[in-house]
Amino acid sequence: MRARIDDDLEEAVRLLQAGRVVGVPTETVYGLAANAFDPAAVVRVFETKRRPSFDPLIVHVRDVEAVHEVATRLPAAAERLVERFWPGPLTLVLERRDVVPDLVTSGLPTVAVRCPAHPLMRRLLSRTGFPLAAPSANRFGSVSPTTAQHVADQLGDELELVLDGGPCEVGLESTIVGFQGERCLLYRPGGLPLEELERVVGPVPTAARTPETAPSAPGMLTSHYAPARTLLLGELDELVAEHAGSRLGVLAFREERAAHACRVLSPSGDLGEAARRLFAALRELDASGAELLVAEPVPESGLGRAINDRLRRAARPRS
Ligand code: TXA
Ligand code: MG
Repeated sequence: MRARIDDDLEEAVRLLQAGRVVGVPTETVYGLAANAFDPAAVVRVFETKRRPSFDPLIVHVRDVEAVHEVATRLPAAAERLVERFWPGPLTLVLERRDVVPDLVTSGLPTVAVRCPAHPLMRRLLSRTGFPLAAPSANRFGSVSPTTAQHVADQLGDELELVLDGGPCEVGLESTIVGFQGERCLLYRPGGLPLEELERVVGPVPTAARTPETAPSAPGMLTSHYAPARTLLLGELDELVAEHAGSRLGVLAFREERAAHACRVLSPSGDLGEAARRLFAALRELDASGAELLVAEPVPESGLGRAINDRLRRAARPRS
């Protein structure tokens, strides 16, 4: 099977209704979607992604009201966040309803829910009538896709259709928050900056790894979002000098470096632009024939937190 890359909404609806898996666009990254209420369809997502089943999926809903189809209640802080940031790059971990299959939540009492902003994805969700369970459309542990072509390159042989919604506008996965009573906790930094969350609900501490947040696994697994080549993260000019003998792939924030291959995330230092380019740049460097990738952290504010988080995980030694 070779996936078609197409904006054929009707075909996507038909496949999803038939229990198939479809690559779908969102504003953050592309997803690998299936009917969230159909366990057999959800199994195919895990198989296609080669994802361990202890790692729960995000359920995508068509609008704010539809959250109640999968979650029992929203803490007041969640209500405020939904009102302010949905549709958008924010996922909430909420108490689940029983209709959500155990497979989607890995048997947890909670479900991760998000209302995506991408117009084509929103049309798709309003046409299917059921929510879509979707992880990022990459093989487990590798870099998330930000174009339909990225999805087809990695998973094309196992999919019939990648619904093409153009390049992702945010480029980083959603920010994930959970709740402890009324307290809001950060599970994964992402496409919605922490500062913006905190303006609405006050301080949002990072969740400790506890059994309840353990599924924080993947997003929090040490080696994740990783390119195939080894990536070193640090002071760029030092790394370039130290490894001058290797064919280097360089991922720079603002300034180009002489190397076998170099990608600059944002010459003007714009973190939104850097986020948008990050995953495509990692893929390009990985495919450039470089033996070793080197990268530098970006300023640790706004979207910079999530960019640095992904770079740190991409850079961890692989096991
Ligand atoms: O932007 C995004 O969030 C993209 C697009 C496709 O929506 N999706 C995405 O999914 O990044 P994925 O599966 O790659 O990451 C979902 C994260 C995982 O780290 C998972 O452990 C966490 O969400 N998660 C899901 N359900 C959870 C739950 N009940 N409690 C805590 N974490 C949960
Ligand atoms: Mg992922």
